[in-house]
Amino acid sequence: MKILILGGDGYLGWPTAMHLSENGHEVACADNYLRRTVCLNEDVSPLFPTPSLPERAARWKSVSGNDVKVFIGDLTQWDFVSEVFGGFKPDAIVHYAEQPSAPYSMLSRRAASQTLNNNLNTTANCVFAVREFCPKAHIVKLGTMGEYGTPDIDIEEGWLNVEHKGRTQRFLYPRQAGSLYHTTKVMDTDMLWFYVRTWGLAVTDLMQGPVYGATTPESGDDERLMPFFNYDELFGTVLNRFVVQAVADIPLTVYGSGGQIRGYLNIIDTLKCVRLALENPASPGELRIFNQLTETFSVKQLARMVQEAGAGMGLNVRIENIVNPRKEAEEHYYNPTYTGLKDLGLEPTLLTGEILQSMMALALRHKGNIRRETIFRGVKWA
Ligand SMILES: NC(=O)c1ccc[n+]([C@@H]2O[C@H](COP(=O)([O-])OP(=O)(O)OC[C@H]3O[C@@H](n4cnc5c(N)ncnc54)[C@H](O)[C@@H]3O)[C@@H](O)[C@H]2O)c1
Repeated sequence: MKILILGGDGYLGWPTAMHLSENGHEVACADNYLRRTVCLNEDVSPLFPTPSLPERAARWKSVSGNDVKVFIGDLTQWDFVSEVFGGFKPDAIVHYAEQPSAPYSMLSRRAASQTLNNNLNTTANCVFAVREFCPKAHIVKLGTMGEYGTPDIDIEEGWLNVEHKGRTQRFLYPRQAGSLYHTTKVMDTDMLWFYVRTWGLAVTDLMQGPVYGATTPESGDDERLMPFFNYDELFGTVLNRFVVQAVADIPLTVYGSGGQIRGYLNIIDTLKCVRLALENPASPGELRIFNQLTETFSVKQLARMVQEAGAGMGLNVRIENIVNPRKEAEEHYYNPTYTGLKDLGLEPTLLTGEILQSMMALALRHKGNIRRETIFRGVKWA
């Protein structure tokens, strides 16, 4: 297939580009370096440098022989969008191109507005471009498990049958996002569902949990092919952050009681899930939703696992419960369904002490780069 990755420079975008091209697909990436720009503006940096997208594409070509085409530009701008879609004419699109940080979206009015404008407009432009240039193309969109929040009932895979006064109807599962960023993902889902109903688009919306890791089969140990590894409060997902705190001898910052349960997955499994969704597409007029996680942990469980793995490497990892800057339930029921991707063939890469230790070994190699002051700044929700 010809697959266009929107947000192809990102944490998930670049590893996806390598993975899909290694599996025989023709791949193009589009990105405007928003993630890099925001990191620069907020004075946070990844653990080790990440070459530009054309540099990574050239390196990947030299080690694998696979081509990845690169388009640099802003997907909220129609001229660029039409150049990319009209030029590449994809059979499928992976849409990652959003501002993905919950704390960043809560930082200021400006950051909130940027998140809203960027995320809704990249999604709308993706829909308009499919309609205009490739109406049969399948859109695989990254949503988040955070769209559902933490309801006191089981979380279904995207949909809920509601019985009301003797009649039944299938609705999108109720959503209660926990940040402005997550709210934009809820709005994306609603927008996609509208255009699926109205224009008969084929869409898969993947409700993904926080991702961890940096190494994939395609990157191997070559750090120039690895994605950004952020460990700061704004862009570092929790486990990546804990691993860096562990090696830097900074207590792991558990928010409140640490009873917040979420669904997690290894970056290797993100790639597998996205490929499975692409190779088994949704039908025209279908909004297919999968919950993309492989296991659930509370934050305190994760912290203890990191502590134990660290002890195995001779590190004395401390855990500190700090006042929760977010507004969220710290003890709650959490029981999501996640069978759809397994039914398509996903074999999960579960979290082990060995995986944690390999992440710590990577962080130890770059211990000198760790900027302690960026790890916790306490962006407040209220
Ligand atoms: N990483 C996770 O743990 C996680 C979890 C759940 C959902 N997601 C979702 O997956 C997607 C990818 O996440 P990520 O962690 O790779 O984030 P990322 O910020 O590393 O990747 C997004 C990429 O999109 C690009 N982008 C954003 N707006 C753009 C625009 N207007 N024009 C062109 N490019 C643009 C950014 O520069 C960046 O490279 C996001 O939609 C995110 O919400 C991520």
